Amino acid sequence: MSLPKVFISRKIPEKARTLIASLCDAVLWNKDEPPLREEYLQKVKGINGLFCLLTDKIDAELLDAAGPDLKVVSTMSVGYDHIDVKECAKRNILVGYTPGILTKATAELTVALLLATSRRLKEGMQAVENGKWGTWKPMWMCGQGLDEATVGIVGMGRIGHTVAHCLKPFGVAKFLYSGRTQKPEAEAELNAEFVDLDQLLSQSDFVIACCALTPQTAGMFNASAFQKMKKTAVFVNSSRGNIVNQEDLLVALESGEIGAAGLDVTVPEPLPTDSPLLKLSNCVVLPHIGSATFDTREAMAVLAAQNLIAGLKGEKLPCQIHS
Ligand code: DGY
Repeated sequence: MSLPKVFISRKIPEKARTLIASLCDAVLWNKDEPPLREEYLQKVKGINGLFCLLTDKIDAELLDAAGPDLKVVSTMSVGYDHIDVKECAKRNILVGYTPGILTKATAELTVALLLATSRRLKEGMQAVENGKWGTWKPMWMCGQGLDEATVGIVGMGRIGHTVAHCLKPFGVAKFLYSGRTQKPEAEAELNAEFVDLDQLLSQSDFVIACCALTPQTAGMFNASAFQKMKKTAVFVNSSRGNIVNQEDLLVALESGEIGAAGLDVTVPEPLPTDSPLLKLSNCVVLPHIGSATFDTREAMAVLAAQNLIAGLKGEKLPCQIHS
């Protein structure tokens, strides 16, 4: 019997590659850069399974190019806003993703980004490197501390909850959260209070965006949201760039409407080096590295491979997205 045909759209950790290769006729795009769209459309012709990344747009055009034998699309990411899940469902194509295993790494990076932003680590390091470190001065390089602060989490899912859990020992006075549903576990563990978004924005010293990108969250951090925040507020986003209106954020940072922003995600990615955000001393930008620990990336790739293989065998996926 012939093996199922699979396309793997990028260089991935060895363990996942070996697992797929042992059971499939796999074509691997063995590069860090994705294939150009035209090439991608060629590569997927006639496949039964697709292993993709969050940068790959999986839409009707691509599914048409793959053809009727495509059974499963498996993304090595927890976010799946790049996949037209409804279109997959219409065609009975299963969709797998990788929730859970990247929660701790992403929460850890979110905390690192928050601290780098609030305690001005980028500016401090630049001052040291550029000879701007003069004598010790009482008012120099001061930032916002977490002790006694109010922290607002927008999207108290797995990652949001873990971020709050990590921040608690810093002496946070109060956690507020907003989102679609109330989270009894967060209230029990963190004494977190479920509030509407406006209340969260106006009362929080730190506003941390941990929500998924959906039609409801797209662009939600806009001029009106930034105007509601405290002038000293530190805004952190480690979810998706599209939940922020970046032009409005730039205005808010330049005009002092908010204190500072830390972004692990932007639009576009990579952010062009001439982006005005990069010129601001109160903005820290990281290159979408929330889940980038060795173990996490390997575990994500292996889970994505397991989803792919299960789908090819007609079995239930370990982690399936339901439209
Ligand atoms: C995801 O998985 O969606 C993250 O953005 C990258 O790990």
